[in-house]
Amino acid sequence: MQGKKIIVGISGGIAAYKSAEMVRLLVKEGCSVQAVMTASAMSFVAPLTFSTLTGRPVYHDLFAERQASTVHIDLARWPDLVIVAPATANFIAKVAHGLADDLLSTVLLAVRLEECPIILAPAMNTAMFHNWAVKENLALLRRRGYILADPASGELACGEVGEGRMLEPEQLLALIVRTFGPGDYAGETVLVTAGPTREALDPVRYLSNHSSGRMGYALARAASQRGARVILISGPTSLEPPPDVEFYPVTTAREMFALALKFFPDVDIVIKAAAVADYRPELQAEQKIKKGEALELKLVRNPDILEELGKRKEKQFLVGFAAETAELLTHAREKMERKNLDLVVANDVTREGAGFNTETNIVQLLYRDGGVEEFPLMSKLELAHQLLDRIKVCRRG
Ligand code: PMT
Repeated sequence: MQGKKIIVGISGGIAAYKSAEMVRLLVKEGCSVQAVMTASAMSFVAPLTFSTLTGRPVYHDLFAERQASTVHIDLARWPDLVIVAPATANFIAKVAHGLADDLLSTVLLAVRLEECPIILAPAMNTAMFHNWAVKENLALLRRRGYILADPASGELACGEVGEGRMLEPEQLLALIVRTFGPGDYAGETVLVTAGPTREALDPVRYLSNHSSGRMGYALARAASQRGARVILISGPTSLEPPPDVEFYPVTTAREMFALALKFFPDVDIVIKAAAVADYRPELQAEQKIKKGEALELKLVRNPDILEELGKRKEKQFLVGFAAETAELLTHAREKMERKNLDLVVANDVTREGAGFNTETNIVQLLYRDGGVEEFPLMSKLELAHQLLDRIKVCRRG
């Protein structure tokens, strides 16, 4: 998505506030985004919101002073993709029938559909969505090659529940990514584990760690954006799973192990970003443990999931993380050998901006031939993409 030029059109619906988040996600992906608003959109969200997020002035006026009279043509020639979100019933009707009475509708008329995909994300009340005029306009647009982000069912701003709710920003982002092509991971199945595991002591307490799941979810998102089928097995986190991934929530290491074993024969790549508890209490008390002078716990070993997968490895490419607080490379190399890994992401979790519960990470990659590559501080999503790039090169041999 890096460097892609995208026009985000916003027409006048309450879902305009969600477009701001979609724009933020696109900018985070490295896209250049130009917002174009209708007059009614500006009654819902101020242009300042979009100009701040995109770093560009918002266009909304076909005849603005100090603006070339061909602004609609200049805009239409610029993008790699146009998305209108929300697309109201009125705006859809205008596009379907070639009306051009404001800047956004004129730009849409001037974009060459055969060179630049146009996505429309309808958002409206259920009755309006099922109105014959709207249905036929949408069918006409679909036939002509416009991409429709079919709205979901759910609670609407008017208080009704039904079809017409604009897709969530993450879902729109996924659709945009898919529209650009199948991606370099198309046809691959990637199994990602993420988050912590929890090992219960009694019905109210557990042993766990600080993993937020961010690293693993970023990997799942990146692989899915690049066209992979992604199976995400996650311990408890507060994150929303990325759209389009097969999501399996688990609690304990043994649950994660069972699912990883089940999917392993069908996957091409395993990336184990999860922070799995190495130990669990030998006994789990049925009732809440009561306070006493001291409490002795006996812990027993959990299965080492990655080590077990390493023993069963056939075609699969195995990537492990090594979260360390000292002697990073020594421990990481030992894990690579013992677990039969193809690549290890060595993570010094004591460094600021790295490791647990941060938006960023700083890692070193250990290759099978003894090579080490150091990465600077970067967002977990950017790291996920870099890691996928390296995996591709390693697998090509
Ligand atoms: O979730 P975040 O807040 O974003 O934090 C990210 C992270 C710090 C958790 C992540 O970057 C990371 O380093 N994950 C690995 C943490 C870990 O458990 O490392 P380890 O060195 O203990 O384990 C080595 C590898 O074996 C890991 O890939 C782990 O998933 C795997 N393992 C470990 C124990 C076990 N019983 N089974 C396993 O499969």
